Amino acid sequence: MESILITGANRGLGLELLKVFNSNAFFTFPVVRTEESAETIRAQFPYNCRPIVADLSEDKSINSIKLILENSTESLDVVINNAGISGSEYLIETLGTAEVNNLFNIHCLGPIRTVQACLPQLKRSNNPRIINVSSRLGSLTRMASGEFKDRGFSYSYRMAKAAQNMFTICLGQEVKRFNITVCAIHPGELLTRGRSTDANTDPSIAAENIYEWIGTIDINSSGLFVQPLVQDMPW
Ligand SMILES: NC(=O)c1ccc[n+]([C@@H]2O[C@H](COP(=O)([O-])OP(=O)(O)OC[C@H]3O[C@@H](n4cnc5c(N)ncnc54)[C@H](OP(=O)(O)O)[C@@H]3O)[C@@H](O)[C@H]2O)c1
Repeated sequence: MESILITGANRGLGLELLKVFNSNAFFTFPVVRTEESAETIRAQFPYNCRPIVADLSEDKSINSIKLILENSTESLDVVINNAGISGSEYLIETLGTAEVNNLFNIHCLGPIRTVQACLPQLKRSNNPRIINVSSRLGSLTRMASGEFKDRGFSYSYRMAKAAQNMFTICLGQEVKRFNITVCAIHPGELLTRGRSTDANTDPSIAAENIYEWIGTIDINSSGLFVQPLVQDMPW
């Protein structure tokens, strides 16, 4: 049985990913922030599911994840770094550095913490894959083209996703020696709580696409930035 760890799995895209992987015979490790969310997930997914409670904004989440994986599985096939938060300030005059710090903490340090916790088990998989859920708004190429100019997208989100993309590239090049594939994805404009004004896609459709695409990738795909089954993304 293949296994997957998904962060931010109690709602939005993460919950849809949990549904599709769990129903397709993956052993699932959803990472959620509260015991209450873990309890709800246990009730909804009684089989092949082991929730992990960890706040990815803190370093202690590394050990929380590590401990459960050590006690539950020899290997881990897929990690999806999905947890995220939105920013709000889009004018330099009103931009607070605390918001930028928060966004970098979740979108960049969160995936670093998760990967550090999962590395021992990933190394024992036959086809280990790390997928970082990025965004079209993290694409320097698309941002520089002016495509998103005057749309009111926050500094913090765009900066944090661009930095997360750099993490994806650096990590992919480093862990190739362990045969670990690392890719970034844009999931689409989703009808979730963290939606943009042009949201048009049910997260269950994005999750199905991501599931199918993940089944097709291996080390030769490392370094890709794509919207799964829809389009290649420019870095
Ligand atoms: N929605 C879109 O159109 C869109 C487009 C491009 C990219 N994305 C990216 O796709 C991913 C999922 O987005 P979404 O729209 O599904 O978001 P969402 O509905 O707002 O869900 C975000 C998830 O992240 C979790 N989370 C936030 N902070 C956390 C922390 N410190 N520790 C652990 N978990 C934490 C939340 O848990 P709680 O319930 O506990 O808060 C929640 O489960 C994000 O990375 C987002 O940036 C979304």
